[in-house]
Amino acid sequence: MKEYRVGIVGATGMVGQRFVTLLANHPWFHITALAASARSAGKTYEDAVGSRWAMTAEMPESVKSMVVMDAQNVEEVASKVDFVFCAVDMKKDEIKALEGAYAKAECPVVSNNSANRFTPDVPMVVPEINAHHLDVIPAQRARLGTKRGFIAVKSNCSLQSYVPALHPLMADYGVDKCLVCTYQAISGAGKTFATWPEMQDNCIPYIGGEEEKSEQEPLKLWGKVENGVIVPASEPSITAQCLRVACTDGHMAAVFVSFKTKPTVEEIKEKWASFAGPAQELGLPSAPKQFLHYFEEADRPQTRLDRNLENGMAISLGRLRPHTQYDYKFVCLSHNTLRGAAGGGVLLAELLAAKGYFD
Ligand SMILES: NC(=O)c1ccc[n+]([C@@H]2O[C@H](COP(=O)([O-])OP(=O)(O)OC[C@H]3O[C@@H](n4cnc5c(N)ncnc54)[C@H](OP(=O)(O)O)[C@@H]3O)[C@@H](O)[C@H]2O)c1
Repeated sequence: MKEYRVGIVGATGMVGQRFVTLLANHPWFHITALAASARSAGKTYEDAVGSRWAMTAEMPESVKSMVVMDAQNVEEVASKVDFVFCAVDMKKDEIKALEGAYAKAECPVVSNNSANRFTPDVPMVVPEINAHHLDVIPAQRARLGTKRGFIAVKSNCSLQSYVPALHPLMADYGVDKCLVCTYQAISGAGKTFATWPEMQDNCIPYIGGEEEKSEQEPLKLWGKVENGVIVPASEPSITAQCLRVACTDGHMAAVFVSFKTKPTVEEIKEKWASFAGPAQELGLPSAPKQFLHYFEEADRPQTRLDRNLENGMAISLGRLRPHTQYDYKFVCLSHNTLRGAAGGGVLLAELLAAKGYFD
């Protein structure tokens, strides 16, 4: 496989740090540029991050003395890389302008930000679920007037457990409606207990914008490619309630679901056990071998025990049982900064590389 030079825009943040740790020993991707705000620009990566380093692994030696670039110096950053990952804390219109500027500088952008998720010709991809949405990239390039440059995004971290759980059941049984309550870790807000002490021993029943994303983004993932854009699906109806809980990493979801044709418990478990997508078929380096793991134990999955399954890239499921109002209920768990953020971004980039979009 060809190797690529990679930049991380927002490298000093929570998701940026995850990208740094995931890419330190990546077989295809090598970090050649780290960029952040003007506050960090000109400092070494070690100094710019300082006490904000939030990973359990040590900061890789290879990045410590790299000088952080100003992310707004788009041409300079773009000249050092074959594509960038982008995860920045900025206003939505500023992020759209920044990502658009990189794409127009012929530098593909793999984004963790929400700003472009509903741009109709920007693919929002979970590689196991909707890899075919990459087919809109030629139309996006035509709109941008680029040969290489484009933007591809990954979806929100909250839905990375229940959408993969529902997806293998859609074709045969048709999901009619779904109610989901999420229990989301503090790293999802870019925080640790040190930087957000109010979260210790606490639960906050509000995460700005999260319920809308949790209800709407699945419909784009299940949408169709038509005339160079993605047309979102009109069903299933999803209602979500999203809570912030006192966990460092890992988003749990409690799911209630009804089907058009009701499957048995055994049929659901069989669909989950046998499900694989292009990420597994192409043997992408970050793909979990078994995407969906079902735990038979009544008290699993647990956030602390199970979030790191298959390097934090697999989904853990459990407690599937009949329900009195919906057909079934179950719980599911995914690691929010691995599968839900940087790991999902790296897997998407691997899919793009394997399909030749960076060449
Ligand atoms: N945390 C998660 O689990 C998660 C999951 C999915 C998606 N996301 C998304 O990923 C993005 C980043 O989240 P995060 O949690 O990593 O945030 P964060 O820890 O607050 O990091 C923000 C990053 O953005 C940079 N930045 C801020 N203002 C900038 C500017 N004007 N120009 C260039 N860079 C600027 C910061 O650089 P300085 O250090 O120089 O200030 C830092 O590198 C957000 O869009 C978030 O919604 C996060």
